[in-house]
Amino acid sequence: MAIVENPPTQTMAEKADRHLLYQASVQNPDFELDFIDETFKEIRGRKPKTMREDFAGTAISSCRWVKRRRGNTAIAVDFDAEVLDWSRKHNISKLTDEQKQRIELIEDDVLNVSTDKVEVLQAYNFSYWFFQERATMLNYFKKAREALVDDGLLFLDVFGGSECYQTQKEKRKVDGFKYIWEQAEFNAITNELTCHIHFHFPDKSKIKKAFTYTWRVWGARELREILAEAGFSESTVYRQKFDPKTDEALDEYIATDEAEDYACWLGYIIAKP
Ligand SMILES: C[S@@+](CC[C@H](N)C(=O)[O-])C[C@H]1O[C@@H](n2cnc3c(N)ncnc32)[C@H](O)[C@@H]1O
Repeated sequence: MAIVENPPTQTMAEKADRHLLYQASVQNPDFELDFIDETFKEIRGRKPKTMREDFAGTAISSCRWVKRRRGNTAIAVDFDAEVLDWSRKHNISKLTDEQKQRIELIEDDVLNVSTDKVEVLQAYNFSYWFFQERATMLNYFKKAREALVDDGLLFLDVFGGSECYQTQKEKRKVDGFKYIWEQAEFNAITNELTCHIHFHFPDKSKIKKAFTYTWRVWGARELREILAEAGFSESTVYRQKFDPKTDEALDEYIATDEAEDYACWLGYIIAKP
């Protein structure tokens, strides 16, 4: 008698799409675009229309930007053809024809690309920390400044605190899976931090090292010095606020140079050309 084996079934990890998981667990484009809109209005007295997203990945922020207001345009830059293809298939395809006219994906290195000048240049999720050498960071900031109109603004994110300099794992439940952030290696001499993102599923399957990054952990003060050297006239740190009673991090950011010896703080650096 023939033995009929059950057809192999795919695990949740095998069925999952790492870019969708990344978008669901790491990114919050609406919050970030609200912050950009509100801060730009506060500083420049108007809402911006033209935006460039560097290290764009799936370009979800650019897609949300063109959906936000009819006059908005976005340029998304990434040097990885695979992620830009994914963006075309999964994100750009969901835009209307009219919205598609207002977004451009560019496959290029942010250190080389030349684009129309924009009011907002955003480089988020610490991707500019891929640049390890001060000279490279200076070069990037010079290029970023050239890409801005005279009254534009550069938006960078930044983090700090003693936990940056440690190996550690942090788990968070997201809808239908677990997100694991692993700071796997830290070199105390060079400040190089190697991090992985893993995803775990209820059926016990896993995507290990779905994404790996090696960054230099930069200090906000040094970054501001490099921004000044690149010609930016002013830069401001917007630091995450903490609940004074519970010490819990809040989704509110204030312009300040005041900070305690937080174990971990998140913030933005906003620079004026
Ligand atoms: C962590 S993802 C960031 C995605 C998104 N911006 C976010 O906020 O989550 C980093 C992206 O930067 C891209 N990247 C890294 N270095 C780059 C460079 N020099 N020029 C252009 N893209 C770069 C990678 O291909 C990758 O898609």
